[in-house]
Amino acid sequence: MLIESNHAQVAVGPILELKTVTKSFGGFIAVNNVNLALERKPVYGIIGPNGAGKTTLFHLLSGFLNPSQGQMLFHGQDITHLPPEQVARRGLVRSFQITSIFSHLTVLNNIVLSIQRRQTGGTRLFAKSDWRDEYLGEANNLLDEVGIPPSLRESPANDLPYGLKRAVELGISLAAQPEVLLLDEPTAGMSLQDIGRTTELIARLSKERMVVVVEHNLGVIADLADEIIVMQQGSILTRGKYQDVKVDPRVIEAYLGKRH
Ligand SMILES: Nc1ncnc2c1ncn2[C@@H]1O[C@H](COP(=O)(O)OP(=O)(O)O)[C@@H](O)[C@H]1O
Ligand SMILES: [Mg+2]
Repeated sequence: MLIESNHAQVAVGPILELKTVTKSFGGFIAVNNVNLALERKPVYGIIGPNGAGKTTLFHLLSGFLNPSQGQMLFHGQDITHLPPEQVARRGLVRSFQITSIFSHLTVLNNIVLSIQRRQTGGTRLFAKSDWRDEYLGEANNLLDEVGIPPSLRESPANDLPYGLKRAVELGISLAAQPEVLLLDEPTAGMSLQDIGRTTELIARLSKERMVVVVEHNLGVIADLADEIIVMQQGSILTRGKYQDVKVDPRVIEAYLGKRH
């Protein structure tokens, strides 16, 4: 009974909640007293000028940095001081940019290794002789999902063009089976064509799990996000629908102010 009532509470509450979260580096406050509750929605977009604290917020949420102050809850459970592996294990996963790819391994082996890391907690690196076969089916499904053609899967990851490397990197993140996926500027540095493909991919991924995406390209955000959160100087300036946020004088000023 108790468990059932606990589940009922979890189901109606926010998935992710930050309470008075602050991060300072020396005397500089990068994230300033952030209070934020996110319900389940397919896609949240986080925008804000450079230096607003967006990436730091993701570092905090994913356990790569400890807040100086405040508390973070995932499904009502305290994750404030959990290390990254344990945060990921609970289902909150930050995408790592291309740095997470082993560039000399094949695309397929990169994904296989990530699945193995999830299964074993990263304690057995290539420990079993049949390590690859065990995860091949799932790895190929993930590569289907992120749109890497079969003909490229046995190539070293390094040989792929930039846009497809980013897709592999998404596959690596998905191998952790995230319930909530944090994406920091997934289209940065991409060609227009890759931006379109990536936007479609994120929309597709968000059908299966919640996505929180930091994005500079407002066109991408407008297409994708069900709700926008605007950060400025470490704080949440406002949140709402894209149509409302984009005409908010405070948001316009935050962006224009940055140019001077
Ligand atoms: N490790 C760090 N040490 C000192 N200052 C940092 C560190 N990380 C980020 N900052 C500062 O915190 C502010 C917010 O950075 P960041 O979160 O990367 O912003 P955004 O992703 O919104 O551009 C910036 O002024 C940045 O220089
Ligand atoms: Mg950033």
